[in-house]
Amino acid sequence: MGRVRCTGRGILSHEWGIIKLLYYDAVVFDLDGTLIDSAPGIADGWRYTFPQLGREIPSDEILKKLIGPALSETLPKYFGMGAEEVERAVEIYRPRYLNQSWKLTRIFPGIRALLKALHDRGAKVFVATGKPQAASENILEYFGLMPYIDGLAGVGADEIGVDKEGLILRALNGQKFNRVAMIGDYMSDVEAARMLGFDGIGVSYGFGAEDEFAGARCPVAKTPYALFPLLMDEMPARKGYFISIEGLDGCGKTTQSDAIERTLRDFGYVVRRTREPGGCPISEKIRALLLDVNNKGMSDITEVLLYAASRAQHVQEVIRPAIARGEIVLCDRFVDSSVAFQGGGRQLGVELIQQINAPAIGGCMPDTTVYLRLDHETALRRRENASALDRIESEKASFHKRVEEAYETLVAQDRERFITVDAHKAPEEITKEILPLLMARLQAAEVV
Ligand code: TMP
Repeated sequence: MGRVRCTGRGILSHEWGIIKLLYYDAVVFDLDGTLIDSAPGIADGWRYTFPQLGREIPSDEILKKLIGPALSETLPKYFGMGAEEVERAVEIYRPRYLNQSWKLTRIFPGIRALLKALHDRGAKVFVATGKPQAASENILEYFGLMPYIDGLAGVGADEIGVDKEGLILRALNGQKFNRVAMIGDYMSDVEAARMLGFDGIGVSYGFGAEDEFAGARCPVAKTPYALFPLLMDEMPARKGYFISIEGLDGCGKTTQSDAIERTLRDFGYVVRRTREPGGCPISEKIRALLLDVNNKGMSDITEVLLYAASRAQHVQEVIRPAIARGEIVLCDRFVDSSVAFQGGGRQLGVELIQQINAPAIGGCMPDTTVYLRLDHETALRRRENASALDRIESEKASFHKRVEEAYETLVAQDRERFITVDAHKAPEEITKEILPLLMARLQAAEVV
């Protein structure tokens, strides 16, 4: 972490000897609607609670009003509940949310990068929320945001209405700062900041009303990315990351890619999902040629060159630009497939495949490759149950046996790059194995 010094214009932070300007030495964030999109989880909690109160389930639009401000205020206001019913509602809602509903939370894209940038520059980051402390901690821990947070204040298990100023002071825990900003999606966040002599910053991507900050004379950010220039003098460069998924035809790549994509997006990452052969219009045309069962006469060399040609276009048009923008590329197959299918399956040898592909990929290799290990006989049985097979899928068992062997050699040679999982298991079990390993790698690579 950088050292922090205060000046007239802002706060200077020394990071690797470079002086960067931070406008605040402490930033307090609201949680729901500011750091996290909690709407699906909160709606789930209330859909469970309302029938137990003998009430009908309100629409999602109405349920959104229960996000953010204290329940002691919103339940009477929107549903006419008296104090006793509010208490009962909270008693039913909170355990459900704590044990289950919170898992439906998503981190807003850009938040992970923002928190890391503040933390790296030496600012103290706090969270002050009307949500229970335990649920808030679970969420921030689960999404790997806790390392960036210096203090968190939520409400206690038996508290219902706590004002925002009180929560902010709890989060700061007596520490004094030169300049503090409070960021939230409700006017009450900005008002609380002002009461304490801090700057209030609004965000309009959360759950506040459309005109929430009308006439408030405070900066309002339309997206998390728009918060950067309000807090620091530069937009930190974002690191991209390249993940490929490999395995025999029938290994379950699509199911796992779907699950990985969904989770990465929930974690607030920007994901570019793509595939090979294909992934952009020219390469998709080449894909059609390659997989057309009528192209029986295609020579092995034509085949390997077409896969490489499709890859060259895809790397240049899709993969490199996405990585340069700081996105996570999630690619169904990459050059390992050529090594396994053409090098092994067609017996052209690894070296030739690498030579042919070198100019196509120009050093652009996956940071991590997920290999779904399935023996070729099981893969064959799975394909037999599938509908129409393409030109490569309809190859003989001996071809796919060689593909399997080539994959195994690749994995053995590069254990660092590969995450290998047993694809004979149930899809949910496979996902459960892959995700923690993948998340740990993203964290180690400081991808945000
Ligand atoms: P897919 O069905 O996984 O989209 O892949 C299409 C087929 O192309 C699949 O049978 C594997 C094969 N393939 C190769 O033979 N070499 C390659 O380089 C790639 C990317 C795929």
